[in-house]
Amino acid sequence: MNRTKTLGVLIVLAAFIGGWQWGQQGNDTPQITSSVGGASFAGGFQPESGDAVNTALPARSAIGQTLVVNPGESIQAAVETAQPGDTIQVMPGIYSETVYIDKNDIHLVGVIQAGERATLDGLGKLNDAILYSGNNILIENFKITRYKGNGIMSQAGNNFEIRNNIVIDTGIYGIFPQLGTNGLIEHNVVSGIADAAIYVGMSDNIHVAHNEVFDSVAGIEIENSRHAIVENNYAHHNTGGILAFITPGLPIKTTYDVIIRNNFILDNNTPNFGAPGSTVAGIPAGTGILVMAADDVIIEGNIIVNHKVAGILINDHGNASGLTLDPGADPNADRVMILDNVMHNNGYETIDEVRAFALTELHTGDIDIFQIGPSDGSCIINRHRYHHVGIGDFGECDFTNTDSIHNYLLAGGAKPRVIEPAERGEIAYLGICAGCHAYNNVLIGPAVKDIQAMYADNAKGIASYINAPFKIRPEYPEMPAQNYLDAETQLAVARYLLTLDK
Ligand code: HEC
Repeated sequence: MNRTKTLGVLIVLAAFIGGWQWGQQGNDTPQITSSVGGASFAGGFQPESGDAVNTALPARSAIGQTLVVNPGESIQAAVETAQPGDTIQVMPGIYSETVYIDKNDIHLVGVIQAGERATLDGLGKLNDAILYSGNNILIENFKITRYKGNGIMSQAGNNFEIRNNIVIDTGIYGIFPQLGTNGLIEHNVVSGIADAAIYVGMSDNIHVAHNEVFDSVAGIEIENSRHAIVENNYAHHNTGGILAFITPGLPIKTTYDVIIRNNFILDNNTPNFGAPGSTVAGIPAGTGILVMAADDVIIEGNIIVNHKVAGILINDHGNASGLTLDPGADPNADRVMILDNVMHNNGYETIDEVRAFALTELHTGDIDIFQIGPSDGSCIINRHRYHHVGIGDFGECDFTNTDSIHNYLLAGGAKPRVIEPAERGEIAYLGICAGCHAYNNVLIGPAVKDIQAMYADNAKGIASYINAPFKIRPEYPEMPAQNYLDAETQLAVARYLLTLDK
């Protein structure tokens, strides 16, 4: 901790000098780059086959049947009889259940008639609405409400589409694909979520577009993930709008190659109601875009308006509150690239830490862009447009747009993920538990190393707790039951958790 503090002081000094020099340069004629034309970004994910695709689902493995579920019937019963290649159509009505899909190539589609949707209602009692771990899954057209844990969560499934769902007041995560490759999340409306409305965790090649996320702590979160594009979304009235970061203590330790473009990011000033100690509980209310420790993040064409703290906040782990550094994760946000954005009325009532650092640059008043901590190779164009702090050493970007990049989806899909029996514990851990438990930090639940200290080599004890958890710590939410996992998987995941050492 002391080291971090010293580093903090050094950074402040360095920034002071940098800011002072920048202040001197600030009197020069601004370097103006045209908003139209110019070079396109040449880096980022390079697909093996050249053609861009608009779908994340490969051609279906079989021509299946259509199974129809009517009100009063069980969706899960249909899932159990379904074969890969089948489509399950759910008619409008109320269904109170948890649907768990552990097969490949199932399309679960709500039917909307006269505006009425197939509605999954957790009645404030059930934990999860839809969980899946298969490959090539489509979840479309549902309304999901009043669950305590997750709306739609996936574990280690490749090639998925989650589209046109309305997820309201469903607890901790609204739409949460974890550990998947090649996924499309589009045209969803998600609100009232105590952590992230849309949370992409430990995943690759993801496209998040045309969603509305509001009244949640985090709007859209790209966490420990790579090759993700977040575009054309409307993020408003959350605590933080759109976030790309590394959570320390998770088994996959990088976030890079993220494009955040053409989003409307407005009024994300909602007081933080995240679980105390969780990573998102550290987001200062009033943050438009947050980039923490993530690399190669491009921010382009967004409208970012009315945020108390800052329009764009960029920081390293050392300057984040309440995080334990992870020696396996690079703590710095390197190569952040800020192209033209429209920013207005940001930083008007910022937090003390930001205000104090701004003063080292003799900056007072609004803050559109705030950067703190080491950041190598970062750049910006048209910096004169913004109220900015901490970007004195950002260079001039040598490109003005990302027009050449359509999306990062994989033509033909990713190879289906096959889970071998020996990997069961690990995959279940990564796909499920890591959403709430990190090694040495509190996410939603206690840190793994604290659990290890309590349970020593008692894997059976863990297995029985997760099968039927009960409330222990008053300051934590209740842990959702993992009783949809069979007994063998429960024991395997418990054993795996006890072997973790970072
Ligand atoms: C949605 C979040 C969430 C998920 C997913 C989750 N947990 Fe938890 N877990 C919690 C919370 C919150 C607590 C603390 C509950 C309390 O103290 O009342 C907890 C507590 C625990 C405990 C401590 C029990 C005790 O005796 O103190 C263990 C063990 C545990 N979880 C294991 C797991 C395993 C294994 C998985 C994956 C199969 C998992 N958890 C998935 C949130 C979660």
